[in-house]
This record gives sequence, structure tokens and C-alpha cells, in this order.
Amino acid sequence: MKGIVFNLLEQVVVNTHGEAVWDGLLDKTGLTGAYTSLGSYPDAQIQALVEAASEALGKPADEILRWFGRQAMPLLAHQYPVFFASHHATRAFVLSVNSIIHPEVRKLYTGAGCPHFHFEDGADGALLLGYNSPRRLCALAHGFIEGAADHFGERVRVEHPLCMHRGDPKCQLAIHTLAAAKTMGDAA
Ligand code: HEM
Repeated sequence: MKGIVFNLLEQVVVNTHGEAVWDGLLDKTGLTGAYTSLGSYPDAQIQALVEAASEALGKPADEILRWFGRQAMPLLAHQYPVFFASHHATRAFVLSVNSIIHPEVRKLYTGAGCPHFHFEDGADGALLLGYNSPRRLCALAHGFIEGAADHFGERVRVEHPLCMHRGDPKCQLAIHTLAAAKTMGDAA
């Protein structure tokens, strides 16, 4: 896992819960927290930090990953505005992850293990995203999609009909775009 992911996790934890909670996660896992964005670190370290956060914050690990993904998306939008600028909607943005974003990430971060998704149209208008990765970070993908919807001012419902964590050979996320989210200027 590239250091940028650890840097994002640190930022998200510190922004919401403060430095002391991040330091507590490092103490608990015995990790130093010294990650350079281009470096590569064992996947087990992200798992350990997520498990420690799950314990410290009293939430299941998949909820922590989903929360992390959602909160990380505005940070990525700030760091990589070019990936977001040409889109106006979640669906087109998510579809561009395979063709543009993750290929670019692989060039920028040598050795990055970005997943490749399999897209299909669902019968009910949903976008079906097939995900298969040894890292089994479907909850992170779920959170990234919610964070992207926040970015584009949309509301999405993401279902998870197939999941590797429930013994399925791959995960499938069904992304339903519900409506534009209300902005502060909208009438109640
Ligand atoms: C909705 C959009 C996105 C989804 C669903 C998504 C999903 C994922 C997932 C699930 C992983 C974990 C690796 C794995 O499963 O094997 C990952 C890794 C990664 N993604 Fe994305 N991603 C999205 C957008 C982005 C964007 C906008 C960026 C940055 C500009 C980005 C950069 C990365 C990086 C740097 C990694 C880490 C690779 C590594 O550590 O080896 N992703 N992505």
C-alpha cells in the first residue's frame, strides 16, 4: 500500500478526532507513522491501523474504512483537481477511475496496487461495479463513491449484493444515484 493512503488516513483521523487519537493508534499498533507518499508499506499496516481505529472509536472495521474513504475524497480532490474537473456527476467520475484515474495513479506511484473494476448496467438503472482485489477493501471503495457523490452534490445509495467477506468470489457494489443533494441555499 502506498504511503499516500497512510497520509490520508492520518489526516482524516486527525481532522475529526485530533492528534491524540492518531498517536494512540500508532502506540496500539507499534507503528512509527513515518510514511512518505511515494513509499510502499505492507498492507498489514493499514489493516492494523483500521483495526486499532475500530477498537478506539467503537465502530466495526468496515465502517471505519467506509468513513475513511468518504472523508478522504475531498482531500484527493484538493490534491488532484484535474481528475475531478472534467466531470459533473458521480457516475461519469466513477467510470473514469478505470480508464483515467487509476492508470495515472499507477504512473505517479510506482508499484501502486490500484484495483481494476468491472462495470455493468443494472436492470434498475444502477451502475454495477465489480471489484476483486486481494486487499478486499470494498468498504473503502464504498466510502470513496459516497465521497465522490458529496463532491458532485449528489446523493447515492450503494448496495453490496456480493461480497468477498461473505464468501463470494468478488464484490459487487450497486450504485444508485438518488438525486442532487440539497445545498445550503435550497429552500427547506
Ligand atoms: C470513486 C472513486 C474511486 C474508487 C472506488 C477507488 C477505489 C480504490 C480502492 C478500493 C483501492 C484499494 C486498493 C485495492 O483494493 O486493491 C484504491 C487504491 C488507490 N486509489 Fe483509488 N479509487 C477511487 C478514486 C481514486 C482517486 C480519485 C485517486 C487519486 C487521485 C485514487 C488513488 C488511489 C491510490 C493512490 C490507491 C493506493 C494504491 C496502493 O497503495 O497501492 N483513487 N482505490
